[in-house]
Amino acid sequence: MKTNSFEFTYTVYESLEELEEEDAALLVAARAVTSQAYAPYSNFFVGAIVKMDNGELLSGTNQENASFPAGICAERTVLSAASVVYPGAAINSMSISFRSAASESKHPISPCGICRQSLLEQEKRQQEPIRIILGGQTGPVYLIHSASHLLPISFTGEELRKS
Ligand code: THU
Repeated sequence: MKTNSFEFTYTVYESLEELEEEDAALLVAARAVTSQAYAPYSNFFVGAIVKMDNGELLSGTNQENASFPAGICAERTVLSAASVVYPGAAINSMSISFRSAASESKHPISPCGICRQSLLEQEKRQQEPIRIILGGQTGPVYLIHSASHLLPISFTGEELRKS
């Protein structure tokens, strides 16, 4: 018997002002795009921006549905958009922010489990890490250096290819 451990390093900034200019711009854009979210049921408005390796930006927001499970998170909305608009291009970074009717947006939120799985799929596909920038409308900002760090002991397509 043995015990394994998993450890990862992420960077915590006190506020947006401490970020590199390009990352700050991505978070500003994620904050702003929350106003385009369609979230009439949760009143939890999420925005995500991707920067592609060709420098282009795309945005996504959560899209809810009266049949709740049909709703989709901002992260997966923008992952799909990236795959359609820039097929074959790699995603360099994703910024994520939110606004909520219930509480002040002054801390980061991080992607849900399904979105982590989708981020990992894209990362495996492009064989380049996706940087993830997390922040509320104000407050501290986290920089995760690779999506894979958010999903240890993950299930991947490699399992399906094993004979
Ligand atoms: N949501 C996102 O879009 N991204 C996240 O990282 C967490 C949750 C959405 C799903 C749903 O529309 C609402 O936020 C409340 O869960």
